[in-house]
Formats: sequence, structure tokens, C-alpha cells
Amino acid sequence: MTKNELPMTQKIEYRDGEIKVPNQPVIPFIEGDGIGKDITTPMIRILDEAVEQAYGGEKKIEWKEVLAGQKAFDATGEWLPDETIKAFEEYHVGIKGPLQTPVGGGIRSLNVALRQKLDLYVCLRPVRWFKGVPSPVRYPEMVNMHIFRENTEDIYAGIEYMTGTPEAEKVRNFFLNEMGVESVRFPESSSFGIKPVSKDGSERLVRAAIRYALERKLPSVTLVHKGNIMKFTEGAFKNWGYDLAESEFKNDTFTWRQYEAIKKEHGEAEARKALLDAREMDKVIVKDVITDAFLQETLLHPYDHSVIATMNLNGDYISDQLAAMVGGIGISPGANINYRKGYAIFEATHGTAPNIVGTEKANPSSIILSGVMMLEFLGWNKAADKVLYALEKTFSSRKVTSDLHSMMDGAKLLTTTQFADEIIKNM
Ligand code: NAI
Repeated sequence: MTKNELPMTQKIEYRDGEIKVPNQPVIPFIEGDGIGKDITTPMIRILDEAVEQAYGGEKKIEWKEVLAGQKAFDATGEWLPDETIKAFEEYHVGIKGPLQTPVGGGIRSLNVALRQKLDLYVCLRPVRWFKGVPSPVRYPEMVNMHIFRENTEDIYAGIEYMTGTPEAEKVRNFFLNEMGVESVRFPESSSFGIKPVSKDGSERLVRAAIRYALERKLPSVTLVHKGNIMKFTEGAFKNWGYDLAESEFKNDTFTWRQYEAIKKEHGEAEARKALLDAREMDKVIVKDVITDAFLQETLLHPYDHSVIATMNLNGDYISDQLAAMVGGIGISPGANINYRKGYAIFEATHGTAPNIVGTEKANPSSIILSGVMMLEFLGWNKAADKVLYALEKTFSSRKVTSDLHSMMDGAKLLTTTQFADEIIKNM
């Protein structure tokens, strides 16, 4: 069936701040490079089975393959064809396998290009542990966090100048001669990078994080920043976050800044009482932690943090650390979302794993769990729960792919396909 033959009802639409999901939504997917095919095929099988079991034929995903990466280049001469971007714009929700970064293709990263073109400003990474999965920490069951990483700003904006270039010289002269900067230790051999962090960008990210916490009845949002050093970028992010919570969400949140203000004016006992009252009323507690301390916190007191809102670079570090704590990037799901336009692309968070392509060693859990996030985003929770249940059962029966097998005593080694079969059997 071609695009033009589809009735309108089969397209996911975005109206009045909400996505409207028909019973047979068209979902574009990018297979991905490297192990992309190995993991995308089982993900589709498993999601289809879960939807069928949950809704008995009433709902069904119409998968529509769109091209990106090597497959796109071979077919069209372009790494990221316009048609692919248009498909995500048209159908709103999609899923993708990993994409290799083209060498000398004029694009720094296809993932970054996709995020920029659709302005997918939130990178959402839920991190939780599944019983049976090996972990380097003693109580992995205490890790249950949802990272909201800002996706479009910070040093990832790519404003960087290499030492020795006329651009770097211009930047250097501007700072030294016009701005009176004296702290560039080796001006002649310095490269320069610029870190834009805006009020608009910070607010939309923190807004999404607070809404997510409220919708899911999660207890807190932690703003993670390095504002003690970078006062006007990371420090401002923290302040804008608090300002937003105290204005837009004033009836639903209680902030540490408010706590400190009460403490200063009325003493610690009053502040503690206000905090307890807020908890009693199920308000979301908005707090902040400095990044280095936060990385310690994740190991020492993971249960103190629920939703994490942070900037691009911090989010990158935090995502990998938390992923490692619950079993590695092979099983960590993710999504890139623009909540204002209703665009969401769910993705395997690992790379193309060129060293294991075609060996049936790939662990498909990351893209399967991203599929679970997608089902939840569609409101198809019954199907999502089925996949989660089956995956957890498979892990706890110690039947795993080779990446986890090497870390588990007495586990049974399965190929990628056998692992997918086992999940379907356990559903
Ligand atoms: P990688 O994630 O592909 O591989 C790192 C290690 O993890 C390898 O030993 C690999 O075998 C293993 N691994 C990764 N995913 C696995 C899975 N599902 N099951 C079992 N083992 C798995 O990272 P690398 O090697 O740095 O990057 C390779 C390519 O992937 C590059 O072109 C890079 O740009 C791209 N990449 C794409 C990403 C994306 O599309 N989201 C993210 C990261 C890298």
C-alpha cells in the first residue's frame, strides 16, 4: 500500500498539544547500519506479537521502512535523504537502529543531523535494572532514573575553532583585545570552543522533565549542572529551571530554592515542615546537584533521584554511567523528542558494532526497550507491559546474548534470533 492510499486515520497526528493515535498507525523505521538489521528485525517481530496479544487484531503497527546511513547512500547517493526527514515529519513517531558516522561525507553525524533537522530537543533515557542482568553495583535495583538531556545546545552546537586557523586567531584577538580576557593561559596555541545555553532551550527541556514527572507520579526532578564554575551557562540553566518550576508549576512543585528561602527566614524546622507538606501533597520536589557530586550520588544514593534534567554534555556522561550501572549500553533504550511538535524518534543507544555484524551476537534489548518506550508514548501500555514482562522473564531465566553471557555464571548463551524467540515464548 502506498502512502497516498492510506486513509488519514492511519497517520499519527499532533493536535492541541497531544498526539492522536489511530488503531493502525504508520510507523517509519530506519533499519540502521552494522548490526542494525540483526536487531531491528527481532524488535519488529516482538512488538507485533505484543500488540496482537494485547489487542487481538484491533490495533496493529503499519511499519514503513525509510532510509538512512549506508543503505540510503547505496540506494540514493545521500546519507540522509529528505524523504526520510519528511516521513518523520508526516508520521510523527518512528524508531531507528544505529547509524555509522559517514567518513568524509560532509555530515558530522547522521544522528546529530536528524536531531537538528527535526529540532528533537529532548534526549530521553530511562534507566532501570532488570532482574538477572549483571551489574557492577551492589544494589542495581535501586537505580530507576529518567534522564532528560538537552539535545540542541551546549558545546554540541559545534562552534569550535582549531588553533592556527584564521578563525581561532580572530576569536583570540576578540577576547584578548576587545573583551579584556586575561585568563587564556597559552593564547598562541589555544583552540576555542563556544558553549551556548539559552533560557528558551533550558526552559523547554525542564518543562518536559517536570511534566513527565507529574504524568508518571515520580517524586522529584534533579537539575544537574556545573554552575559553580560556569555561572552564566550552567548556573543560569539551574536558575531558569527553578524559575520555571516556581512559576508555571507553582501548584505542583516545591523547590530546594524555596526550601532555602523558608529556612533563611523562618528557620530549618519550618523549611522541613514545608518540604514534608509538599511530599504529602504529591508535589514534585525540584532540586539541583553539581555534576561531579551527582556522579557520586548515582553510586551512593541512586534512590534519591528520579527524573534528571541536564544539559547536553553532562547528559552524555550521565547516560553512559547510569547505563553501565544496570548492564551496559547494549540494553539501554532512548528517544529523541520534540514535545512541541509531537515528533519522537526512539532508538538503540549503542553504535553499529562493526566487530560483531552478521555473527548473531548482537543483543537486541536496547532497540526492543526503545520499542517499549514507543508503545508507552502511543498509550499502548498493555502491549508495552507484555514486552517488559517477557524480557524480564528471559533475563531472570539467565538466557542471554553473548555480551551478557560473558559476565554471568551459569547462563545459557543464545543467538540474537534465539533470544528474540525466547522473549516471544515468554510473552
Ligand atoms: P559501538 O556501540 O558500536 O560498539 C562498542 C562495543 O560495544 C563493541 O565492542 C560492540 O561490539 C559492543 N556492542 C554495541 N552494541 C552492542 C549490542 N547491541 N550487542 C552486543 N554488543 C554490542 O560503538 P563504536 O564502535 O564506538 O561505534 C561504531 C559506529 O557506530 C561508529 O560509526 C559510530 O559513529 C556509530 N555510533 C552510532 C550511534 C547511534 O547511531 N546512535 C551511537 C554510537 C556510535
